[in-house]
Amino acid sequence: MCKITIAIDGYSSTGKSTVAKHLAKDLGYVYVDTGAMYRAVTLYALRMGYFGESEKNVAALVADLPKINLKFVFNESVGYSEIYLNDENVEKEIRTLQVSAYVSPVAEIQAVRVKLVEMQQEMGKEKGIVMDGRDIGTVVFPDADMKVFMTASTQARATRRYRELLDRGEEVTYQEVLENVESRDYIDSNREFSPLRKAADAIEFDNSDLGLQDQFERLHGYALRLIEERKKFK
Ligand code: DC
Repeated sequence: MCKITIAIDGYSSTGKSTVAKHLAKDLGYVYVDTGAMYRAVTLYALRMGYFGESEKNVAALVADLPKINLKFVFNESVGYSEIYLNDENVEKEIRTLQVSAYVSPVAEIQAVRVKLVEMQQEMGKEKGIVMDGRDIGTVVFPDADMKVFMTASTQARATRRYRELLDRGEEVTYQEVLENVESRDYIDSNREFSPLRKAADAIEFDNSDLGLQDQFERLHGYALRLIEERKKFK
Protein backbone atom coordinates (compact mmCIF):
# COMPACT_ATOMS: atom_id res chain seq x y z
CA MET A 1 0.00 0.00 0.00
CA CYS A 2 1.22 3.53 -0.78
CA LYS A 3 1.81 5.41 2.46
CA ILE A 4 2.22 9.14 2.76
CA THR A 5 3.49 11.57 5.39
CA ILE A 6 0.93 14.02 6.77
CA ALA A 7 2.14 17.16 8.58
CA ILE A 8 -0.41 19.20 10.51
CA ASP A 9 0.79 22.49 11.96
CA GLY A 10 -0.98 25.46 13.43
CA TYR A 11 -1.73 27.64 16.41
CA SER A 12 -2.46 26.19 19.83
CA SER A 13 -5.95 24.86 20.49
CA THR A 14 -6.97 24.77 16.84
CA GLY A 15 -8.03 21.17 17.36
CA LYS A 16 -5.09 19.82 15.35
CA SER A 17 -4.67 16.74 17.48
CA THR A 18 -8.34 15.72 17.42
CA VAL A 19 -8.45 15.75 13.64
CA ALA A 20 -4.95 14.25 13.30
CA LYS A 21 -5.83 11.34 15.60
CA HIS A 22 -9.03 10.63 13.72
CA LEU A 23 -7.23 10.76 10.38
CA ALA A 24 -4.46 8.41 11.56
CA LYS A 25 -6.96 5.93 12.94
CA ASP A 26 -8.95 5.84 9.72
CA LEU A 27 -5.89 5.48 7.47
CA GLY A 28 -4.22 2.97 9.81
CA TYR A 29 -1.30 5.37 10.30
CA VAL A 30 0.81 6.17 13.34
CA TYR A 31 -0.19 9.41 15.10
CA VAL A 32 2.41 11.56 16.85
CA ASP A 33 1.50 14.57 18.99
CA THR A 34 4.77 16.53 19.08
CA GLY A 35 3.30 19.12 21.45
CA ALA A 36 3.10 16.30 24.01
CA MET A 37 6.86 15.83 23.68
CA TYR A 38 7.58 19.52 24.42
CA ARG A 39 5.08 19.36 27.26
CA ALA A 40 6.74 16.28 28.78
CA VAL A 41 10.16 18.01 28.75
CA THR A 42 8.48 21.01 30.41
CA LEU A 43 6.94 18.78 33.09
CA TYR A 44 10.41 17.37 33.77
CA ALA A 45 11.86 20.91 34.08
CA LEU A 46 9.07 21.97 36.48
CA ARG A 47 9.45 18.88 38.64
CA MET A 48 13.21 19.45 38.88
CA GLY A 49 12.61 23.10 39.82
CA TYR A 50 14.54 24.30 36.76
CA PHE A 51 11.65 26.49 35.62
CA GLY A 52 9.30 28.42 37.89
CA GLU A 53 8.05 31.89 38.70
CA SER A 54 11.51 33.27 39.43
CA GLU A 55 13.58 30.46 37.93
CA LYS A 56 14.74 29.73 34.39
CA ASN A 57 17.71 27.39 34.48
CA VAL A 58 18.16 26.53 30.81
CA ALA A 59 21.68 25.15 31.34
CA ALA A 60 20.49 22.59 33.92
CA LEU A 61 17.70 21.41 31.64
CA VAL A 62 20.03 21.12 28.64
CA ALA A 63 22.54 19.16 30.75
CA ASP A 64 19.76 16.75 31.73
CA LEU A 65 18.50 16.15 28.17
CA PRO A 66 20.29 12.78 27.81
CA LYS A 67 18.44 11.64 30.95
CA ILE A 68 15.02 12.52 29.56
CA ASN A 69 13.54 9.47 27.93
CA LEU A 70 10.31 9.91 25.98
CA LYS A 71 8.23 7.28 24.28
CA PHE A 72 4.71 6.78 22.99
CA VAL A 73 2.80 3.66 23.98
CA PHE A 74 -0.41 2.69 22.22
CA ASN A 75 -3.37 2.51 24.62
CA GLU A 76 -6.00 0.16 23.18
CA SER A 77 -8.76 1.45 25.42
CA VAL A 78 -8.52 5.03 24.14
CA GLY A 79 -7.33 4.13 20.63
CA TYR A 80 -4.20 6.28 20.49
CA SER A 81 -0.67 6.47 21.86
CA GLU A 82 0.09 8.09 25.19
CA ILE A 83 3.34 9.73 26.18
CA TYR A 84 5.71 8.32 28.79
CA LEU A 85 8.39 10.37 30.53
CA ASN A 86 11.08 8.09 31.93
CA ASP A 87 8.62 5.17 31.90
CA GLU A 88 5.81 7.07 33.64
CA ASN A 89 2.56 7.77 31.78
CA VAL A 90 2.26 11.58 31.96
CA GLU A 91 -0.55 12.04 29.44
CA LYS A 92 -2.73 13.84 32.04
CA GLU A 93 -0.01 15.78 33.89
CA ILE A 94 1.24 17.46 30.70
CA ARG A 95 -2.16 19.05 29.96
CA THR A 96 -2.42 21.32 33.01
CA LEU A 97 -2.42 25.12 32.71
CA GLN A 98 0.86 25.15 34.67
CA VAL A 99 2.63 23.10 31.99
CA SER A 100 0.95 25.23 29.29
CA ALA A 101 2.32 28.36 30.97
CA TYR A 102 5.94 27.16 30.73
CA VAL A 103 5.97 25.09 27.56
CA SER A 104 6.67 27.91 25.09
CA PRO A 105 9.89 29.07 26.84
CA VAL A 106 11.05 25.45 26.99
CA ALA A 107 10.21 24.91 23.31
CA GLU A 108 12.37 27.94 22.45
CA ILE A 109 15.54 26.18 23.62
CA GLN A 110 17.51 25.08 20.58
CA ALA A 111 19.02 21.96 22.19
CA VAL A 112 15.53 20.78 23.18
CA ARG A 113 14.31 21.27 19.61
CA VAL A 114 17.29 19.46 18.11
CA LYS A 115 16.70 16.42 20.32
CA LEU A 116 12.96 16.25 19.72
CA VAL A 117 13.16 16.90 15.95
CA GLU A 118 15.64 14.04 15.62
CA MET A 119 13.27 11.69 17.46
CA GLN A 120 10.35 12.84 15.29
CA GLN A 121 12.25 12.28 12.03
CA GLU A 122 13.16 8.78 13.19
CA MET A 123 9.49 7.99 13.96
CA GLY A 124 8.46 9.09 10.46
CA LYS A 125 11.13 7.23 8.50
CA GLU A 126 8.70 4.62 7.18
CA LYS A 127 5.97 7.16 6.26
CA GLY A 128 2.39 6.18 7.15
CA ILE A 129 2.40 8.87 9.82
CA VAL A 130 0.25 11.81 10.87
CA MET A 131 2.28 14.24 12.95
CA ASP A 132 1.00 17.46 14.45
CA GLY A 133 2.92 20.40 15.86
CA ARG A 134 4.33 23.78 14.87
CA ASP A 135 7.29 22.99 12.62
CA ILE A 136 6.39 19.65 11.07
CA GLY A 137 5.85 20.88 7.50
CA THR A 138 8.73 23.37 7.70
CA VAL A 139 11.50 21.61 9.66
CA VAL A 140 10.70 18.01 10.63
CA PHE A 141 9.30 16.82 7.28
CA PRO A 142 9.85 19.57 4.71
CA ASP A 143 9.08 16.96 2.02
CA ALA A 144 5.82 15.76 3.59
CA ASP A 145 3.24 14.69 0.99
CA MET A 146 0.39 16.51 2.72
CA LYS A 147 0.79 19.71 4.72
CA VAL A 148 -2.02 21.42 6.56
CA PHE A 149 -1.81 24.70 8.47
CA MET A 150 -4.73 24.99 10.90
CA THR A 151 -6.00 28.33 12.12
CA ALA A 152 -9.02 29.58 14.07
CA SER A 153 -9.85 32.84 15.79
CA THR A 154 -8.21 33.44 19.19
CA GLN A 155 -11.64 33.52 20.86
CA ALA A 156 -12.75 30.23 19.29
CA ARG A 157 -9.53 28.58 20.44
CA ALA A 158 -9.65 29.99 23.99
CA THR A 159 -13.28 28.87 24.34
CA ARG A 160 -12.42 25.30 23.25
CA ARG A 161 -9.45 25.12 25.60
CA TYR A 162 -11.42 26.63 28.51
CA ARG A 163 -14.15 23.98 28.12
CA GLU A 164 -11.55 21.23 27.95
CA LEU A 165 -9.88 22.37 31.18
CA LEU A 166 -13.21 22.76 32.99
CA ASP A 167 -14.19 19.25 31.88
CA ARG A 168 -10.97 18.02 33.41
CA GLY A 169 -11.87 19.70 36.69
CA GLU A 170 -9.23 22.45 36.53
CA GLU A 171 -10.05 25.75 38.21
CA VAL A 172 -9.36 28.38 35.60
CA THR A 173 -11.00 31.51 34.27
CA TYR A 174 -11.70 32.19 30.61
CA GLN A 175 -9.46 35.25 30.85
CA GLU A 176 -6.48 33.18 32.06
CA VAL A 177 -6.94 30.73 29.21
CA LEU A 178 -7.27 33.53 26.65
CA GLU A 179 -4.07 35.17 27.93
CA ASN A 180 -2.23 31.83 27.77
CA VAL A 181 -3.37 31.24 24.18
CA GLU A 182 -2.29 34.76 23.16
CA SER A 183 1.07 34.58 24.88
CA ARG A 184 1.84 31.14 23.38
CA ASP A 185 0.90 32.41 19.90
CA TYR A 186 3.30 35.28 20.36
CA ILE A 187 6.25 33.23 21.64
CA ASP A 188 5.67 30.35 19.18
CA SER A 189 5.54 32.74 16.21
CA ASN A 190 8.45 34.96 17.24
CA ARG A 191 11.04 32.56 18.62
CA GLU A 192 14.45 32.42 16.97
CA PHE A 193 14.53 28.69 16.15
CA SER A 194 11.81 27.10 14.00
CA PRO A 195 9.08 29.70 14.62
CA LEU A 196 5.50 28.71 13.86
CA ARG A 197 5.04 29.49 10.19
CA LYS A 198 2.91 28.18 7.37
CA ALA A 199 5.01 26.18 4.91
CA ALA A 200 4.75 27.65 1.40
CA ASP A 201 3.17 24.42 0.12
CA ALA A 202 0.75 23.89 3.04
CA ILE A 203 -2.99 24.35 2.65
CA GLU A 204 -4.45 26.81 5.15
CA PHE A 205 -7.45 25.43 6.99
CA ASP A 206 -9.53 27.81 9.13
CA ASN A 207 -11.85 25.76 11.32
CA SER A 208 -13.40 28.54 13.46
CA ASP A 209 -16.84 27.65 12.12
CA LEU A 210 -16.41 23.99 11.26
CA GLY A 211 -17.55 21.02 13.34
CA LEU A 212 -15.28 18.02 13.86
CA GLN A 213 -17.01 15.79 11.33
CA ASP A 214 -16.76 18.45 8.61
CA GLN A 215 -13.08 19.00 9.31
CA PHE A 216 -12.37 15.31 9.26
CA GLU A 217 -14.26 14.69 6.01
CA ARG A 218 -12.45 17.48 4.17
CA LEU A 219 -8.97 16.46 5.29
CA HIS A 220 -9.67 12.77 4.86
CA GLY A 221 -10.87 13.38 1.29
CA TYR A 222 -7.72 15.37 0.60
CA ALA A 223 -5.49 12.61 2.03
CA LEU A 224 -7.21 9.92 -0.06
CA ARG A 225 -6.76 11.97 -3.23
CA LEU A 226 -3.05 12.38 -2.49
CA ILE A 227 -2.64 8.66 -1.79
CA GLU A 228 -4.32 7.84 -5.14
CA GLU A 229 -2.05 10.31 -6.95
CA ARG A 230 1.08 8.85 -5.36
CA LYS A 231 -0.02 5.36 -6.42
CA LYS A 232 -0.21 6.48 -10.06
CA PHE A 233 3.34 7.82 -10.00
CA LYS A 234 4.87 4.77 -8.31
O1 DC B 1 0.26 21.52 20.55
P1 DC B 1 0.42 21.93 22.01
O2 DC B 1 -0.36 23.14 22.39
O3 DC B 1 0.23 20.79 22.95
O4 DC B 1 1.97 22.33 22.10
C1 DC B 1 2.54 22.79 23.28
C2 DC B 1 3.65 23.78 23.01
O5 DC B 1 4.77 23.13 22.43
C3 DC B 1 3.28 24.95 22.10
O6 DC B 1 3.06 26.13 22.83
C4 DC B 1 4.48 25.11 21.21
C5 DC B 1 5.34 23.92 21.43
N1 DC B 1 5.53 23.10 20.22
C6 DC B 1 6.56 23.43 19.39
O7 DC B 1 7.26 24.41 19.63
N2 DC B 1 6.83 22.65 18.31
C7 DC B 1 6.07 21.58 18.03
N3 DC B 1 6.36 20.82 16.96
C8 DC B 1 4.97 21.25 18.87
C9 DC B 1 4.72 22.05 19.95
